[in-house]
Amino acid sequence: MLPIIDRPLIQYAVDEAIEAGCDTLVFVTNRYKHAVADYFDKHYELEHKLEQGGKLEQLEQVRHPLPDHVRVVFVTQPEALGLGHAVLCARDVVGDEPFAVLLPDDLMWNRGAGCLKQMADLAERTGGGVIAVEEVPHEKTSSYGIVATRDFQGRSGRIEAMVEKPQPEDAPSNLAVVGRYILPGGIFQALAKTGRGAGGEIQLTDAIAGVIKAGGQIDAYHFEGRRFDCGAHIGLIQATVHFALEHPKHGAAARAAMHAALDEKRG
Ligand code: G1P
Repeated sequence: MLPIIDRPLIQYAVDEAIEAGCDTLVFVTNRYKHAVADYFDKHYELEHKLEQGGKLEQLEQVRHPLPDHVRVVFVTQPEALGLGHAVLCARDVVGDEPFAVLLPDDLMWNRGAGCLKQMADLAERTGGGVIAVEEVPHEKTSSYGIVATRDFQGRSGRIEAMVEKPQPEDAPSNLAVVGRYILPGGIFQALAKTGRGAGGEIQLTDAIAGVIKAGGQIDAYHFEGRRFDCGAHIGLIQATVHFALEHPKHGAAARAAMHAALDEKRG
């Protein structure tokens, strides 16, 4: 729920999913976190107040976190057993269809089509799964899922192997998985059989690696745009600076404020 400029992080992921064609959004949270559900709920009293006060711009923002054709479902992950386990919790809602996983602390930005839309276009062409990747410094491989691919054709290459958080000396490459996946429904079967992996958690990476081993096609996709790791302080700061500068209404003022702040520090 941390805000970047004028929206919580979760709203950026939701907008990206809707742009890519998702019409059912499944939020997997723990039972103590009601803030996300509250945010997407209707706010009758607040709407009334804003309407009365003539604050129409704010009213629009409060009123429309979701378009009418999109439904939301909330699923509780009873224990924090890892990303793979969190995804498995959504099995009954998702069923056997291909679906997307978005980790909202990875905030994606692109001037053109969003990251998930780019991936959905590729998935439509290949009929297989797609995982967004980017190069990371070699010494950082132990923070990510790392893929080994066949040669890239343009922005995509078939994944041959995948390892969760390998030490640099064990990493098959420096191509890191970022938090966007399009997966076949069959991943749930693999997840149900996946034991604890890196960090003692049930890892999505391990289940995907199993699907690939069994012959499933999953491509790595070098997305167009930028990723901000908002799970880290510096990533949040970078995202805030970037989105402020790109903001259609506040961009110019933000630039002036940043110049002024830097000049003051220099002076
Ligand atoms: C998760 C995944 C990892 C991926 C990362 C991207 O890790 O397990 O494979 O590279 O997200 O942000 P986490 O950051 O939750 O530890």
